[in-house]
Amino acid sequence: MTKRLILAAAAILLLVGCGQKSEMDKFVDNLLSEMTIEEKIGQLNLHSASGFISALRVTEEDENVKMLRAGQLGGLYGTSNVEYLTEIQKIALESGHGIPLIFGLDVIHGHETVMPIPLAMSTSWNMDLIENATRIAAKEASAMGVNWVFSPMVDIARDARWGRIAEGGGEDPYLGGEIAKAYVYGYQGRTGIFSDHDVLACVKHYALYGAAEAGRDYNTVNYGRQEILNGFMNPYKAAAKAGAGSYMSSFNEFEGIPATMNSYLMDDLLRKSWGFDGFIVSDATAVMEEVAHGIGDLQEVSARSLKAGLDMDMNSDGFVGTLKKSLDEGKVSKADIDRACRRILEAKYKLGLFDDPFKYLKPERVAAEVFTKENRDFSRKVAQECQVLLKNDGVLPLKKNARIAVVGPLADDSSAMNGTWSMSSHAGESISILQGIKDAVTNPSNVSYAEGSWLFRDKDLEENIKYGMIKYFMPNYAVPALHTVPQERMIAEAVAKARAADVVVACVGEVPNMNGEGSSRADISMPDAELELLKALKATGKPIVMVLTTGRPLTLLWEDENMNAILNTWSEGSEAGHAIADVLFGDVNPSAKLTTSFPRMVGQLPLYYNHKNTGRPHPDYEPYRKFTSCYIDVVNAPLYPFGYGLSYTTFEYGEPRLSANEMAADGSVKVSVDVKNTGSMDGKEIVQLYIHDIYATSTRPVKELKGFQKVDIKAGETKTVEFTLTAEELSYYDHELNWVCEPGDFEIMVGPNSRDTKAVVLTVN
Ligand code: BGC
Repeated sequence: MTKRLILAAAAILLLVGCGQKSEMDKFVDNLLSEMTIEEKIGQLNLHSASGFISALRVTEEDENVKMLRAGQLGGLYGTSNVEYLTEIQKIALESGHGIPLIFGLDVIHGHETVMPIPLAMSTSWNMDLIENATRIAAKEASAMGVNWVFSPMVDIARDARWGRIAEGGGEDPYLGGEIAKAYVYGYQGRTGIFSDHDVLACVKHYALYGAAEAGRDYNTVNYGRQEILNGFMNPYKAAAKAGAGSYMSSFNEFEGIPATMNSYLMDDLLRKSWGFDGFIVSDATAVMEEVAHGIGDLQEVSARSLKAGLDMDMNSDGFVGTLKKSLDEGKVSKADIDRACRRILEAKYKLGLFDDPFKYLKPERVAAEVFTKENRDFSRKVAQECQVLLKNDGVLPLKKNARIAVVGPLADDSSAMNGTWSMSSHAGESISILQGIKDAVTNPSNVSYAEGSWLFRDKDLEENIKYGMIKYFMPNYAVPALHTVPQERMIAEAVAKARAADVVVACVGEVPNMNGEGSSRADISMPDAELELLKALKATGKPIVMVLTTGRPLTLLWEDENMNAILNTWSEGSEAGHAIADVLFGDVNPSAKLTTSFPRMVGQLPLYYNHKNTGRPHPDYEPYRKFTSCYIDVVNAPLYPFGYGLSYTTFEYGEPRLSANEMAADGSVKVSVDVKNTGSMDGKEIVQLYIHDIYATSTRPVKELKGFQKVDIKAGETKTVEFTLTAEELSYYDHELNWVCEPGDFEIMVGPNSRDTKAVVLTVN
């Protein structure tokens, strides 16, 4: 922190301490005293920029311009078109009290320079990397008018059927909390003062959106308070503690009340318990969706949402259309409206928009700061650390002079590399896997290519997946013809290329629209046409490296048995192909580890490592036994556990050691372990620390992650990795929802993943 910032922060603390009003309070008080009630309600209204998809122009006929002139808009979202945003900001300044608009956008994993999807980034377990990737996104977006990003998504997800698992940090609340902080710091900076490269984060989807029943998007959530506090809420809390400026309420309900009008979630927990003092915006049309939830008409749900703590209504026109009437009828008070309006004005003040409404509208920054070589290079570096090696029988790394057949529908698909939510990306400019491989080999003519297969046998399904999204926004869009070449002919071509090669790189998995919003799957196996291709390739007897593109865990039992190697590359962004080639050829040793369990069968879902034991526990890998908690047809264990991922080298773990076998509740102990790189290549290892509270007044999970470190270990070298445990890591929310560290014995476990841990016992007095 610079000296100037420290002085400013000290001055604020002093003012607060003396009960004096800050400059911001005085400014906002004054503005509020001058605004009409209609203008205040207008500040609570957020719209998407007209022509969300098509070209944007500011015209007087535009609905948003009309509303703005009537003082009925507080912000716009959905574009980073600098000219448009500049024009519309000018209109905002000419209207009413000239309050600048806030401009939001879904900057989810990078902006024009696309970073790996969030689930991929989480598998790096590298918080500096995530923070720096996010800073680049903030820098690019802020150069293009955006001052508010709808990220991070920190929803814990235990069910891979849910398509939006791609947008989050996986299944673990501790790791999720660390990731949430990294994103908030990346977007907002760490000083608490917004420079013109810092943007306001919006933590979503508050809360429990990832806990949707049966993994079906938008579905009901059926967990109790103790389980949500222990298993799901930590990332939201961590983001609040890191100073996140805004939250987005979620579509789902909790305890029979839609999250968007849930005062327990918004007021009791987020504001009162965690001290959040920013504003809460609804998710898109979430206010009007409360009508379909069965709560009441638009007026009723708008009034209840405001009273429960919602400040801004995205795309429902519920606030702007009904709050005045509700005020007149006594259903909401002036204080309710003032409170919400104050929070919006404060956010604009903190962003510096009252000082300079054009602070983020500096077109000259675009060429110098957006989609630059430097940013793309960094994206490649990030992607190198986000590839999970799931299997390797020794075929990897590949030789650069080998004859390689690159096949599969995802081999030469540049746009699929960007993944879900990459609308600001440069279409077609991301590096495909084929391109990356060609750029890396000694002689590109040794690389052959065949598309190899359709995605699905069912053409309508494939069409719906590929074009459903674009047709939703543009119903008249002419969908290109699919399945024009017979599947059998495509497979035959790929097989011929495979036979002529030394090794096959099969690029298969999900195209982006198979995950993300509104893309739940009941069957999470490899699309059937692609599986046919894999089976035909297998029959050639050639070694096969499966390069998996996906936004969720898939069921890969057959692939695990039959492929020589599986490299899970998710969707890696702008430099995907280069980063993937870096790993395939061993220029980079893979180091990522899963943050979600990979089930064997979809029927195991929800599947998560930090589950409870039950009264009739059944060992994870043992076959069916009647009257124990297991399945007839599959073992309980996942195929690939949480925390799992291979390297080109091997690591050997010693026994964990404690600095003391007993710990006072207010004390601490050190846990250390020796980790040796026993292979011949330098590598990075993610060392994981888990605990298990053996007896507690409530049932506790069999394992809970409480620490991790990513360490570089040279070939042959041994490193001692040390963690500190305090009561904080050993505490949980008990039956009465108190945060307690209960005395007794804890298993303290260390290992390379959640399965292969070694334990020692610690007694807490
Ligand atoms: C999504 C949000 C997103 C919003 C605005 C919604 O459909 O759930 O994640 O931020 O749209 O685009």
